[in-house]
Amino acid sequence: MAIEKFPEGQQGGALDRVDGRQKVTGAAKYSADHIIPGLTYGVLVESTIAKGYIKNIDTKKAERAPGVLAVIYHGNAPKIPGYQTGGNPAKPPTGGEPFRVFQNAQIYFAGQPIAIVIADTYERAIYAVTLVKTEYNKDEHRTNVEANKDKAALPKGPRYADYVRGEADAYQNAAIKIEAEYTIPVEVHNPMELHATTAFWDGEDKVTVYDKTQGVKSTQRSIMDAFKLKEQNVQVHTDFVGGGFGSGLRTWPHVIAAVLAAKKINKPVKLVLTRPQMFTMVGYRPYSWQKIGLGATADGKLTALTHEAISETSTYEEFTDRTVDISKVMYACPNVNTRYKIIALDKSTPTWMRGPGEATGAFALECAMDELSYALQLDPLELRIRNHADVDPVRNLPWSSKYLKECYQKGAEAIGWSKRNPKPNSMREGEWQLGYGMGAGNFNANRGRATVKAILLADGSLVLQSAVSDSGPGTATTMTGIATETFGLPPNKITVELGDSSLPPGPTQGGSTTTSTLGSAVHDVCVALQQKMAELVTTKEGSVLKDVKPEDLVFAKGFIVLKTDASKRVAYPDVLKQWNLSKLEVTKDSQAGDERNKYSIYSFAVHFVQVLVHPVTGVVRIKKVVTVADAGKIINRKTAGSQLMGGVVSGTGMALMEDAVFDHRFGHCINNNLADYHVPVSADVPHIEALFIDKPDPVINPIGSKGLGEIANVGFAAAVANAVYHATGKRIRALPITPDKLLV
Ligand code: MOS
Repeated sequence: MAIEKFPEGQQGGALDRVDGRQKVTGAAKYSADHIIPGLTYGVLVESTIAKGYIKNIDTKKAERAPGVLAVIYHGNAPKIPGYQTGGNPAKPPTGGEPFRVFQNAQIYFAGQPIAIVIADTYERAIYAVTLVKTEYNKDEHRTNVEANKDKAALPKGPRYADYVRGEADAYQNAAIKIEAEYTIPVEVHNPMELHATTAFWDGEDKVTVYDKTQGVKSTQRSIMDAFKLKEQNVQVHTDFVGGGFGSGLRTWPHVIAAVLAAKKINKPVKLVLTRPQMFTMVGYRPYSWQKIGLGATADGKLTALTHEAISETSTYEEFTDRTVDISKVMYACPNVNTRYKIIALDKSTPTWMRGPGEATGAFALECAMDELSYALQLDPLELRIRNHADVDPVRNLPWSSKYLKECYQKGAEAIGWSKRNPKPNSMREGEWQLGYGMGAGNFNANRGRATVKAILLADGSLVLQSAVSDSGPGTATTMTGIATETFGLPPNKITVELGDSSLPPGPTQGGSTTTSTLGSAVHDVCVALQQKMAELVTTKEGSVLKDVKPEDLVFAKGFIVLKTDASKRVAYPDVLKQWNLSKLEVTKDSQAGDERNKYSIYSFAVHFVQVLVHPVTGVVRIKKVVTVADAGKIINRKTAGSQLMGGVVSGTGMALMEDAVFDHRFGHCINNNLADYHVPVSADVPHIEALFIDKPDPVINPIGSKGLGEIANVGFAAAVANAVYHATGKRIRALPITPDKLLV
């Protein structure tokens, strides 16, 4: 029988956001929106120095202020049991000692939380914070990467050892060579929603937390470890997240502070970070210095590539990312070497942000490729095609799928690349200089582990549950789409429940893995549930499908149907009725197999931009963007399109605006607000064409979908910088590309 499709709008591939109405009407509850009886308000007191220790902290005046319930600091804070034994609440990614909130007098960074004031209203808490007086013993601090490059050292992890393929630094002897240095300042995630935690205890050993996090299970684990609690006694809820971009990937000290405060005063405590605190307490993209050396033959074949980077971490943890890794795999090149070092500075620990590592590295690599193209007098797109990596050059393994050449072609057509006059500063639009630029990127397409419970209810509707928090891409929507297509129910009969740590374990939402990981688990659990239903319907006396072989059945539009005779069918709810069941449940754990040993699995993207540069004011306007992604099968073209556009917006900020400025005399970030730290607003965002190859990857997972979130941002800033060079003949190697840099 021909299986009819659901009508347009109800197909899995083009669903509107299932939670869109809740979001736009304000019905969606974010982590700071939960009002609990007896709620109190915590506000953090911050260190005003960058290094040293607290000599004295006078909390008396604050404690006597109206409405104040407690002031907690290292002198009176209960010991956090998990800290004593090395338990690690804010688990650092690659080792080091975590920052232990309120456990000692040490100051590691300016803006460090040193106390929490709890009052009956937020305003009273904010006021009382001003009454806390702190005296310090100050030490000399260091916060400047450029001034401390001599102190850069190899990270401890083995994967950061210098990499050499062929001969190191071979570009120095190449026929055509370029060598250039690039810098990216500190950038801050700045999701619209502030980080917020509301915690309340039930007795001595049970706590419930509403937290803004990208991983309810990892936050649960952090609190369990810190307070030595059992899993079932820590509940973490994250119903909605107003953007994360990586800031919610870890459990930060303020979360532990809120849980600690709620325990000490035995009342629910809500702690919402201020916008300035968002610049120091929840991570940032570390400052980076990079140097690229490229060597090529006169006909544009890469012979050598050297990529060096120096980045920063805190003194108490070692944060690293994959800044130089993209240079190992992006192009076919016989001689490649990388060096990656970090400097420990008196700042808070950086973290993953919007295409971490690859977005940083691709800025340098893809600008350098552009510079090489001019040295060769070769079209920059043609240079990339000539050096396409047909296999993974590091592991010498085939790609699971790679449509980067198709991305190049599709993007070039859509932007009108053939109309580009290759000569810099040659094109005009009115009084503006017009430039075309491009940049490409890749990102490891991973698949993690997830468990999903599927519940078929008596009314024939399906509930899917997993402890994943959706930081914005529309996870419930894509999962609904996958279930629609796999299970054969219309979307309005499917409910996806997420964001609750007591649901079956799911991954942290990060690294572009949710659709691949959770989507595969949804697929697998739907298939398992169908198998169970097939078993029931073919073994029940009196069922029209009794004794039919399961492989002769299809599942479509809420019916189990005999392939050869469509009149023989059983509606989903009737399976339950046949067996007198109120519901049917299947739980399925799903994870990758050994395919990664045989294939290299990556997503790819290319960005083409047109920019306009004003020759008198130096203002850069992005006129048009075409971004093309090879992210495997596109599960939902609306949410995927939005994600690609979001990456372009984020890349626009990186290219033209974002710059967390530090006054190194004091170690403070001085533009720690959204008036002075610029992010793109609607008027900065041009027409964006978000295009997909949309071909399933045959290897990565049963749904064929690779990662998308990060590649949307990898290579974009380079495309803008390259377009600015084409427009003006000025090569800006230090982000962001602000007018002052173009006017010198
Ligand atoms: Mo992403 S930087 O893994 O939230």
